[in-house]
Amino acid sequence: MTLPPKPPARQGRVSLWKYLKLFRQDILSAQPARLYRAWMAEFRTPFFRSFMCNQPDLVNLVLKERPDDFPKSNRIREGLTPLLGQSVFVTNGETWKRQRRIIDPAFEGGRLRDTFPAMWSAGQNAIARLGAQADGQPTEIEVETSHAAADVIFRTLFSIPIEHHLATQVFDAFRAHQRAQPVVNLGAFLPLPKWFPRFHSRETRRTALQIRALITELTRERQTAIREGRAPDDLATKIMTNSDPVTGQQFAADEMVDQVAIFFLAGHETSASALAWALYLLALYPEWQDRLAAEAQTAMAQGEFGFSDMSKLKTSRDVFRETLRLYPPVPMMVREAACPEKFRDRKVPKGSQIVLSPWHLHRHERLWDDPDGFDPGRFVTQNGRACLRQAYMPFSAGQRVCTGAGFAMIEGPLLLSMIVGKFRFETVPDKPAMPVAHLTVRGRDGIWLRVSKRE
Ligand code: HEM
Repeated sequence: MTLPPKPPARQGRVSLWKYLKLFRQDILSAQPARLYRAWMAEFRTPFFRSFMCNQPDLVNLVLKERPDDFPKSNRIREGLTPLLGQSVFVTNGETWKRQRRIIDPAFEGGRLRDTFPAMWSAGQNAIARLGAQADGQPTEIEVETSHAAADVIFRTLFSIPIEHHLATQVFDAFRAHQRAQPVVNLGAFLPLPKWFPRFHSRETRRTALQIRALITELTRERQTAIREGRAPDDLATKIMTNSDPVTGQQFAADEMVDQVAIFFLAGHETSASALAWALYLLALYPEWQDRLAAEAQTAMAQGEFGFSDMSKLKTSRDVFRETLRLYPPVPMMVREAACPEKFRDRKVPKGSQIVLSPWHLHRHERLWDDPDGFDPGRFVTQNGRACLRQAYMPFSAGQRVCTGAGFAMIEGPLLLSMIVGKFRFETVPDKPAMPVAHLTVRGRDGIWLRVSKRE
């Protein structure tokens, strides 16, 4: 049975400099194979100490039991500041708490129902685009899923399609930004000494400024529309008009730009990565693809498909879940120990980096049955259910859990079903995909598939 692609692990010990070099190329293949079996692993350098925690109790402690003692590492800012400013993704303490109090209500269950028609329209748009090129020739599918996920974000946030001139410009500028800064995570994972060269090229700063200028234009326009009482009831309006129940404050204009930048980045990169891998997995396992397509065609046969019909897409949800297990779009997260700790009888000095790795936890050999296999049916088994509770965190967990988790679990299965109901996907023998961690988990040379229309 073919296993889904997994990057080869690093062989043997390497020097710090070699590690940094490997790390810069790809975080995943820079790691040794033992991390798939270890409960904890320490990494010591002259500049910092870091502890990767895979033991479910430790992950719980850091994310759920005492999250305030393990704030986001300040190093996270290193890579992301030019673009994200003081966005909720990078802040800590009271600032972060206030921001979440304003943002969270916009993503609550009832509110998600309101975003459904915009997601559906983005799905239709994606079908039309794919239809124009579904001729059985190899297609780089990440480009398509990025386009679709960006469309979802613009439609749900600002009620504009990706074809709107500002949306198109933001999307293009983001692509240029990523090309300029493919290893944005590096600074986030390693607390580099002050003298170490940073990777903010002139191009990174230029594209970040360009994106922020465009987003500023969008938020200004929206502020005017809100003042004049003609703003659509979408996520941007909700977030811009929500007040913090504790302080009564709303987001200031600049702060709103920071938040929109992170919604766009966190909301489209991640979903695009997950959708592309889901399609690749379905191409590798055609029996699952046919099952999902049949489910979609039955559920959507009448044309009337609404939010409450999402429960009919069970196979799609399980396939998407299994994709997030094997290819978690955010492969690792970093926290900092705010005070001295003891983990597994080992001293963890104050300031140590605590690395939580969905990538390793989701494939942990001591926790999951058949950890590297593709089995969307696993979540109804005893092992699958237990692991869902204690060893599955594609959206992180605890108070800092992804704001968009509920949103993504509707968007992903919906788009997957809409697309797979209409098209067949096949692998391209001379273009196998290999995961590599850039900003999210992507295909090293893209993800290539043949797309053809389903009869
Ligand atoms: C499959 C899709 C997605 C995945 C796998 C995902 C994953 C994650 C993860 C792992 C984090 C925590 C990062 C950390 O703590 O270092 C996070 C945070 C976040 N995500 Fe998502 N995300 C997805 C989609 C979305 C969407 C659609 C949105 C918004 C529309 C969104 C908005 C955010 C925000 C604002 C944060 C920061 C939360 C905070 O720090 O308080 N994400 N996401």
